[in-house]
Amino acid sequence: MFQTLKVLNERPKPFSRYTAEELWTDPHISARMLAFHLDADGDVASRRPALIEGIVDWIDRRLGLTDRAVCDLGCGPGLYSARMARRGAHVTGVDFSPRSIDYASELVRQESLAVDFIQGDYLKDALPKNQDLVCLIYGDICALSPDQRRQLFGKVRASLNSGGHFVLDAFSNPQYELRKEGAAYSRRLMDGFWAEGDYFGFQTTFLYDDLKLALDRYLIIEPHRTREVFNWLQYFDDSALAEELTQNGFDVVQVVDALSGEPWKISPHEFAIIASI
Ligand SMILES: C[S@@+](CC[C@H](N)C(=O)[O-])C[C@H]1O[C@@H](n2cnc3c(N)ncnc32)[C@H](O)[C@@H]1O
Repeated sequence: MFQTLKVLNERPKPFSRYTAEELWTDPHISARMLAFHLDADGDVASRRPALIEGIVDWIDRRLGLTDRAVCDLGCGPGLYSARMARRGAHVTGVDFSPRSIDYASELVRQESLAVDFIQGDYLKDALPKNQDLVCLIYGDICALSPDQRRQLFGKVRASLNSGGHFVLDAFSNPQYELRKEGAAYSRRLMDGFWAEGDYFGFQTTFLYDDLKLALDRYLIIEPHRTREVFNWLQYFDDSALAEELTQNGFDVVQVVDALSGEPWKISPHEFAIIASI
């Protein structure tokens, strides 16, 4: 027990373990996540509907969605995919959560919208070709190591038509300043989020000030199994992420406020980058 807790409190090397799949595809956790995605009053897994509508609106005004081939990476339950399809886009949504893909497929089926869904890992699996626009929305880039980002940027470039656009948003450095280190322990930590039955949950939050990186490290102990989940969140300086995109073959068109699409002013909010190839 001492050894287990000692390890839990040791600061892991940045991005030393990637457990995103556990977080999004476990049958119990993904049901809780879906509820968060669909919660109209909160911004845990997806933003609130009015904010999503506003984002799709600025993307449409700025880049045009009608008759465009759009790939929505990490589409979750299709909240952006469906809205873009209603504006005339031919959307392919990619996500590794079967539960979210099932929900999204039913959503677009009911309205006969032009959306295909692929259940897959955007870091490993083939992405659709000949896309006019690829989106990666709600800070998905922040969960990835520098190597994974490089890998993903290459795949996005290969899926875009010449002149196509890549829109991604990210959590900003001022948001990192609001984070605190700490530890928590309780029976059924986070109100049963981690498992259906009984368990003990431990959470340790580490901050890496030099990198503006946060890690929420969870240890979940059930009667029959023990799991660890590493939740990395990289906060970005907008010009550093823009430079990274440039180094990976993109032209950065503009850095904007993620919610409004207006020019970015440094603030404790997410920014978005519009890039092209
Ligand atoms: C923060 S949620 C955002 C969902 C959606 N973009 C939205 O804002 O409503 C991240 C989504 O990305 C998916 N995801 C994370 N990593 C992924 C990967 N490597 N491959 C495919 N999907 C991934 C998760 O399953 C989840 O649905």
